[in-house]
Amino acid sequence: MVLPSLAALIGDIELDTCLYNASGARCTTAEELKAIAGSNAGAVLSKSCTSEYREGNPSPRYYETILGSINSMGLPNEGFRFYSDYAKQHKASSKKPYFVSVSGLSFEENVSIITQLSHETGIDAIELNLSCPNVPGKPQTGYDFEQVQRVLDAVCSISERPLGVKLPPYFDIIHFEQMADILKAYPLKFVTCINSIGNGLVIDAQTETVAIKPKNGYGGLGGDYVKPTALANVHQFYRLLPNQIQIIGCGGIKNGQDAFEHILCGASAVQIGTQFMREGTSCFMRIAQELQILMEAKGYKKLEDFKGKLKYI
Ligand code: DHB
Repeated sequence: MVLPSLAALIGDIELDTCLYNASGARCTTAEELKAIAGSNAGAVLSKSCTSEYREGNPSPRYYETILGSINSMGLPNEGFRFYSDYAKQHKASSKKPYFVSVSGLSFEENVSIITQLSHETGIDAIELNLSCPNVPGKPQTGYDFEQVQRVLDAVCSISERPLGVKLPPYFDIIHFEQMADILKAYPLKFVTCINSIGNGLVIDAQTETVAIKPKNGYGGLGGDYVKPTALANVHQFYRLLPNQIQIIGCGGIKNGQDAFEHILCGASAVQIGTQFMREGTSCFMRIAQELQILMEAKGYKKLEDFKGKLKYI
């Protein structure tokens, strides 16, 4: 029996399997990146990086509930040089694509980091994060459409590596259309939908206290809380963007059916965040097998057989 193929293409980059980690989940240190490389994930994506090392926000800064997670990490990372240098080490021992997420704290910082990362051939693509909700005093670029154009004008003209963007969730049809009109003017290879739903609040009724310390408890939501919003964003951008810009689905994937739903809505590949935090690297193999069983039952042999084919009633 031949198992259904989970192979995926992002631009010209081939993934043996369409599942990999969301940026932020267990991908900050060399050990964590190595663990993803050694797992059944289809690619390795780094923690969003800044120019310099950052300690991040005070703890507790990540909290899980039955329905998902809340985080306000504050961009703890090793600084972009570490993730650039790590590419050599990665390529020496792994065939998996290696992606670096970039989240500079200003326009100038993003331009500077991407200029410098551009020369590192071991980086298969850059995911520019336009949607970090957790740095006090810094609004998300993804909600400021003029700023999105300004940064894409700059980085698209300098990057020699394939480039994609990670978007925040949008909640209004006009915003999907306006953002898609902006994005389609650039040579982007992919758009990742969605980052966490920003500035939620999880509290404990018993202790009458917030669950995390930074920002008086406000943080980005992931997991089950966000899946319908993620599917809506994946499907809207799939419909509105040209075929050469692939959609990467992210948000609430914890089993094979969730991955199937993202692909049905138009995702070419999917990232796992909250569930990877919960379960560790075994989630990639488990979810892949569950997705294959579901595809087998439906008679699908490859992702293209159902990608984007959501039906309306
Ligand atoms: C962090 C959170 C995000 O959602 C993101 O996109 C980047 C960074 C953080 O708090 O570290």
